Formats: sequence, structure tokens, C-alpha cells
Amino acid sequence: MKTVMINPGSVSFEVNDGETILSAALKNGLVVPYGCKDGACGSCKAKITAGEIDYGTYQKRALSEFEKKTQSILLCTAKPITDVTITANLLSVAKEYQPKKLPCRVENVKKVTDDIAIIYLRLPANQKFSFLPGQYVDILLEGDKRRSYSMANAPREDNLIELHVKHNPGGLFTDSIFGFQSESKVEIKEKKILRLEGPLGTFYFRKNSDKNIIFLASGTGIGPIKAIIENLALENLQYNIWLYWGVRKPKDLYLSDNIKSWSKKITNFAYIPVVSEASVEDNWKGRTGFVHHALMEDHNSLVNYNVYACGSPLMVNAAFDDLTKKLNLAEKNFFSDAFTVAADVKK
Ligand code: FES
Repeated sequence: MKTVMINPGSVSFEVNDGETILSAALKNGLVVPYGCKDGACGSCKAKITAGEIDYGTYQKRALSEFEKKTQSILLCTAKPITDVTITANLLSVAKEYQPKKLPCRVENVKKVTDDIAIIYLRLPANQKFSFLPGQYVDILLEGDKRRSYSMANAPREDNLIELHVKHNPGGLFTDSIFGFQSESKVEIKEKKILRLEGPLGTFYFRKNSDKNIIFLASGTGIGPIKAIIENLALENLQYNIWLYWGVRKPKDLYLSDNIKSWSKKITNFAYIPVVSEASVEDNWKGRTGFVHHALMEDHNSLVNYNVYACGSPLMVNAAFDDLTKKLNLAEKNFFSDAFTVAADVKK
């Protein structure tokens, strides 16, 4: 067992042999920014200031050699070899949001496009399941496998959660929904009992800011953003809000009607759908191209903005680079959840 101290003089906790710093921190109720828990997204980056770690297995794009040389580590893969001290951004997320493992029942599966479905899961009525809109759950599968999906609704009294799932051909979880069967795959149908772990992740709305808000989504990245915006409407929190949603084809805008209804509840709400591969037959009259380029065409400076981006790593990384370098968005005001793919993982 080793001791990890976060921010000298702040808090310390024990890490079991073979355990990652992130896992031990969460067990101790200490929440630092994280996303994939799999060494792929880079959200859990911190600095090591004393001691030695095993870096574990991670993707190069999440932690470059240069970053390693300048003492950056990924908390989700780092295992202490000695006692260590790190500097990290400790978030004050309450204990009630600590993840737990629960059974759940598939209530309904609704296909909304050729390759996107909405799965409704019911959690046990006697279990309080508190989460922050924008967080995700892991569906626990046989053989220690798991699939991560964002919850696309604000917390509800009836313990129902909604996941927006894109077909991942050949993957374990989604094939059966889209009519592809195989004995080794999970069959998702009504009344099926699954197990999940959650809530997870630190993609949630920061209320202690009066900045203008831009939401940037690609594909099913709209799911957690839907959860956040619906909750803002429920709590009647008024901000100036822009929502940019990028998809390949107009038919992929499966939530447009829903989104248009939000402008009745939120005073200053602009919805900008952006299509990247419209054909002549689509007769699309709206914006085209990369979704974050549309945002950049509309804004000269993001000094007074918070940006929440969710979707493919390509979009999230490009948006981070362009918005911070070209439109003066402060790095700390960019919040993201990239749908990383590790092995045959996720979303
Ligand atoms: S790289 Fe650690 S949470 Fe994604």
C-alpha cells in the first residue's frame, strides 16, 4: 500500500498495490476530473511532484512523451511505486454522487435512426440514484467488460435513465438492437436485466459562473448535453445559450423537434444544426461543414464563455485547439467528454 498526497498539505489517501490513483481517489470520495478511465481521453491528467509511478497502459494521444518529461501523468492508469505527491484539480462533488453498482431493467428500446437507438433503463425503486446531468454509466458485461454510455436525461423520480446508443458493428453491446445476432453478444430487449456502475465522469454543468454558454455536440454527444439543458430548464436557470449539433446527414438530427421545444423554456437559446455530408437529394438548407467551424464563424472571441463539448475525440480535440488558440477561450473554461474507443469500446 502506498500513500498519495494531492496538492501538498491538502489531502492524502492510501492506494492498494496494483490499484490506480484515480480508482483509490474516487473510493475515498475525492473527485478529480476524469472521463474514459482507460488512458484514452487525457481528462485525468495531473502533475507528479514527488515519488515514482508505473504509468500503466495508455494511448499516446492522451499523454505525449513531452508531457511525460514535464511530469504529467494520467491518474486513471498511474499506479504508485513509492509514496507520491501530485498536483491535481480537486473538484467538490458531493458524496451522494459516488458511483455504485446496481441492477437495472431494459424498459424500452427505440430505434431513432438506422444506427442510433435510445435505451430506457429502470433502476430499482428502493435505490436512490443521484447523478449530475452530463455524467455517464458503465454497463457491466461478462468477463469484466464494460461499455460506457452517457445518461441523456436529468434525474427523475421514477429512476428511469435514457442512453443514446450508436451501432458499433461487431461490438458486444449494440449488434442485437440493430438486428445482428451472435451467441457471444448481449441481447438487448425489453425486460432484460443488466448491471451498471455509475454515476461516472466529470462532464457536468458548472453553476458558479455567469458566463455565456456554448454547447458543442457531434452525433450521440447530444445525449449528455440534452440532460444538462433539460435540467437548466427544469431549474429555470437562465443563461445565453448556443447549441451547435454536428451530424453527417440531416436524418441524423433525431432530436431536433425536442430541441426546438427548449427555446420555449429558455429565453436566450439558439440552436444551430450543422450537417457535414449533405447530398443534393437531402435538400439541406442549413449550415454545413465541421460543427466547431460553424461556431467559429459566429463568434469573434470566447473570452466570456464556457464551452461544453461532447462527441468524437476528433471533434473535441480540434475544438479545444482552435477555440483556445484562435478565439481566446480559457483552457479552464472548456469542459469535454470525448467518446473514446478503447479496444472495441464504447458509446
Ligand atoms: S485518460 Fe484518464 S480518464 Fe481518460
